[in-house]
Amino acid sequence: MCGIVGYIGKEKALPRVLSGLKFLEYRGYDSAGVAYVKNGNVEIVKEVGKIVNLENKINYSEETFMGIGHTRWATHGVPSIINSHPHRVGKFTVVHNGIIENYLKIKEMLINEGVNFISETDTEVIPALLNYNYNKEKDILKTIEVTLKELEGSYAIGIICDDDLDNLYAARCGSPLIIAKDKTGNFIASDVPAILSYTNKYILLEEGEIAKISSSNVEVYNNKLDKVEKEEMIFEGSQDSAMLNGYEHYMLKEIHEEGKVFSETVNYYVDGNSFKNTMPEFKDYKNIHIVACGSAYYVGCIGKSLIEEFANIPVTVEVASEYRYKKNFYDKDTLVIIISQSGETADSLAALRKAKEDGIDTLAIVNVVGSSISREADYTMYVKAGPEIAVATTKAFLAQATLLSLLAVKLSNKLELLNEFVGVEKYIKEILDKDYKKYANVIYTHNDTFFIGRLVDYALCLEGSLKLKETSYINSVAFQAGELKHGTISLVTDGTPVIGICTDESIESKTISNIKEVKARNAFVIYITNNDIEADFYDLKIVLPKLHKLIMPIVTVIPLQLIAYEVAKLRCCDIDKPRNLAKSVTVE
Ligand code: G6P
Repeated sequence: MCGIVGYIGKEKALPRVLSGLKFLEYRGYDSAGVAYVKNGNVEIVKEVGKIVNLENKINYSEETFMGIGHTRWATHGVPSIINSHPHRVGKFTVVHNGIIENYLKIKEMLINEGVNFISETDTEVIPALLNYNYNKEKDILKTIEVTLKELEGSYAIGIICDDDLDNLYAARCGSPLIIAKDKTGNFIASDVPAILSYTNKYILLEEGEIAKISSSNVEVYNNKLDKVEKEEMIFEGSQDSAMLNGYEHYMLKEIHEEGKVFSETVNYYVDGNSFKNTMPEFKDYKNIHIVACGSAYYVGCIGKSLIEEFANIPVTVEVASEYRYKKNFYDKDTLVIIISQSGETADSLAALRKAKEDGIDTLAIVNVVGSSISREADYTMYVKAGPEIAVATTKAFLAQATLLSLLAVKLSNKLELLNEFVGVEKYIKEILDKDYKKYANVIYTHNDTFFIGRLVDYALCLEGSLKLKETSYINSVAFQAGELKHGTISLVTDGTPVIGICTDESIESKTISNIKEVKARNAFVIYITNNDIEADFYDLKIVLPKLHKLIMPIVTVIPLQLIAYEVAKLRCCDIDKPRNLAKSVTVE
């Protein structure tokens, strides 16, 4: 959601800023813009739609050695050139990721002071307020410090001030921002992939910090303007991990990494029949709350099923945007688990902070190292998915499911169950190697599909249905198999695709009865099972290997992801960057 890239150095800035922005496309955006310095003046170019539209308006050979760029995911005001960033007021030009919650109050105050606003955005108040305060403070750093104190909400910002074109300024509160250095100069960026073509070393700006960056120097200050020393971080993945590597889409590439991701996640926590010290020691909790958004919420539903079954601890799964505002029944015997691929989702972060404020133990299950959620939780467990670029999460989901399954074993104290995690990679490879086009061929012409399953299979239905919706724009609903007949079955007509999932023998006959109910209404049934029986209640079947209950949900998601991918491809959708979606949702 909104991406920021800036460069100041000896090389031309525009190619670096634009190439960085392209690596942030996965975050989701609907317009883009750059500001750069030319002959002592700040020039701004913006365009609606994809970055290529912006590139068509830009002269790459421009002799400019400082620039900031931005991809905007619209929140306040439609995607338009005026609403796109950078925004400029007086001497200040700004790109911003996040939301300024008190922008209307600031805008009103500044309008009374004679300031003119041209956009509908919350962001425009930032340069306006900076400019207003600068007239009093005269010092740029002091101006930024004073201004940030007046802003409420979340932000990562890049700033150019006309009076100091030898430095780029940046600040962060709530939204991520890194600073990286290569031999030619310095970068700011929302995320590591933007700078990986040049360097893998970076520093992470912490909450409230302000940076002053020249082509050869980086100074970081805290919110009292005391200088702070920063620790350099090294991104361990290769540039390849953030590139397509011959695959047509990132989504497909990332699904095909799932065997490796499974093994790396297991090997990071397990050594033979015991856990390594990377697995935290937990006290005996009486109950667990899992809190997350989107797919991370659905993986939480898988976690509930496994932890309840194997560790005998009651688990409730909650959507973070609700959890942060509702009355929660927790105490010192509760563990709150926040699951987040990005570690930056605003609602998940707020839910974590709420639990911490109430003195509850928190565990973060996160993919992005150093992200806000990973740093603020009492315990952090990383999944080993590597950078995930496609907006629709796949390998991170599988890695989270793997880790929750390991956690169920840990909390159960039945270490012998770790044997079940051995040799799974080869089954994942077998599942990946199958062809899923024939299932997609059935689905892609329909406007409605249903996913039905019971217990943990229902959690997989939720994820399968979401994957299909977000990548192919086909309406899809997931139901507990026994519940469909209580109303919604009225939508099943001749040929309606219904994906029935059953990987648990104890409820197989019940799920099959429900599948027969839709078959009797002429639905086209795709049956996903680990029990290869010949029968007439399905039209097509996907047979999975029969693995332990701890492993089954991890591998069952793979065909669902590949079906969604193939359907989206048949419908010519923008698979890696579906419309309206953002990968990292840093606003409420
Ligand atoms: C967005 C993404 C989803 C993701 C959700 C939670 O909506 O498009 O794929 O599941 O955010 O993100 P998180 O980074 O917290 O897992």
